[in-house]
Amino acid sequence: MLRGVIAELIDKLPAKTHADKDYLACGVLTLRPIRGLFVSTTHRGGLVHITVIGLGHTGLVAAAVFAEAGHQVIGHDIESEKCAIIRRGNSPFHEPGLEDIIGRVVRSGLLVIADNLEESLAQAEVIFLAVGTPAANGDSPNLAEFWSAVGQVVPAAPENAVLAIKSTLPVGITDELISRFKSIWPGEAPVVVVPEFLRQGSAVADFRRPDRVVLGSHSPEALATVRRVYDLFDLPAEVFHECTPMAAELIKHATNCFLATKISFANELANLCGHLGVDYEVIRRGLAADTRIGAGFMHAGLGFGGSCFPKDVAALIETGRMAECRLTLLETALVANRAQVKRVVNLTRDMLGELEGKKILQLGLTYKPGTDDIRGSLSLELAFLLSRAGADLTCYDPAYHPTTVGSDNLFDLTDDPLAAAVGAELILIATDWPQFGDLPWPEIAKSMSAANLLDGRNMLDPHKLTAAGFTYRGIGR
Ligand SMILES: NC(=O)c1ccc[n+]([C@@H]2O[C@H](COP(=O)([O-])OP(=O)(O)OC[C@H]3O[C@@H](n4cnc5c(N)ncnc54)[C@H](O)[C@@H]3O)[C@@H](O)[C@H]2O)c1
Repeated sequence: MLRGVIAELIDKLPAKTHADKDYLACGVLTLRPIRGLFVSTTHRGGLVHITVIGLGHTGLVAAAVFAEAGHQVIGHDIESEKCAIIRRGNSPFHEPGLEDIIGRVVRSGLLVIADNLEESLAQAEVIFLAVGTPAANGDSPNLAEFWSAVGQVVPAAPENAVLAIKSTLPVGITDELISRFKSIWPGEAPVVVVPEFLRQGSAVADFRRPDRVVLGSHSPEALATVRRVYDLFDLPAEVFHECTPMAAELIKHATNCFLATKISFANELANLCGHLGVDYEVIRRGLAADTRIGAGFMHAGLGFGGSCFPKDVAALIETGRMAECRLTLLETALVANRAQVKRVVNLTRDMLGELEGKKILQLGLTYKPGTDDIRGSLSLELAFLLSRAGADLTCYDPAYHPTTVGSDNLFDLTDDPLAAAVGAELILIATDWPQFGDLPWPEIAKSMSAANLLDGRNMLDPHKLTAAGFTYRGIGR
């Protein structure tokens, strides 16, 4: 971190060129130009030459924070427009705090975006692979991007470089990778599985201060090299968990499966509360007070979405199936999850009757607050379900601003939720953006033709909303 701070301070000095600034930062250096920037090629104590392949929600955060910590990072992505945005010092997606770091590390030359794969790998000591492993039709991941990337990266990597895998791979795939490249790695393969646990919306803070760093490898030397990357983070020793690649893959999947199961449990309990006439929030707080249960992932809502949880649960179910060890709990968690968003549609029917022609304002489209990511978003799915049921739907999201969604323009988008509320019969909160709590609810209630509010994330205070004139419903309340 100290190097990052020094780089930032030096960046603010009125030095004329990046080379001057690098010189100030590092003492006598060998400088080599990349795209007009000068990059140090000498090793400083603790500095590791890192390459990050795949500059998406995981890889770009890793690249930026590694550079901020003081490593020399070269990034590469096949999307040229994304690379151009990062080179200008900007972030291609919304992630709090990320653009600020990118601006600083690009200016200081600690993060360089290479034109091509070969250039990105030339100096690499550790190559972090963070390409996508997207869900294939809602099931286990599609590994085409991954196999294509390793097929190019492994043969082109410098001889002693370590391949550090950040992409989430189904259990056993890293061992398959190692056996596919046996001829290139005759000894213990220099491959380390370093699963990522960051949460979009707080990715920078999570990456700067991880609660654990799992390192899965068969090679003690490769493990030691990747540990060096984390030396600059000053993390306590107990944060590190060293294991085999398969164990690391399993820790990653088990983590997401546990959290997803907790969410399905919370939703089922909330649904029961709805039938019993008990406020789920009272139950939730009672449960969260038990330290064995904890407060996290106990909120009722639309279910678990996004690009990771559903895919990772499906992948572990598939791992179990292949190992002839059925994972019925996870199967049920997925079934409960798929039903939950439909239950929320039914709640809107409970409040409005048939939805045909009913004017509804939906707040939130992203899969969670703090991001503009709509991959696997249940809020988006909810919008599609309501529109297909005939609702006259308008949606507002603080971060996601397309001109249209989907090919058939099923619903309208607005950047003015107060105007869109006028004459509406229901407001539905789909994503729990905190700023929705600050909306002028009494004024909004007066402007609607019927002041109904369905709080799909249980984020608002029902007493305040009722006092503001709303008929309030939540999930299990
Ligand atoms: N998003 C998260 O919150 C999160 C958290 C933990 C783990 N993960 C895992 O990390 C991996 C990446 O997820 P993401 O959300 O960052 O995906 P993403 O789609 O945002 O980013 C992947 C990037 O890889 C690039 N890419 C694909 N093939 C490439 C190639 N051959 N060379 C260079 N670049 C290439 C793509 O252009 C894209 O920019 C996935 O396996 C995911 O499961 C994601």
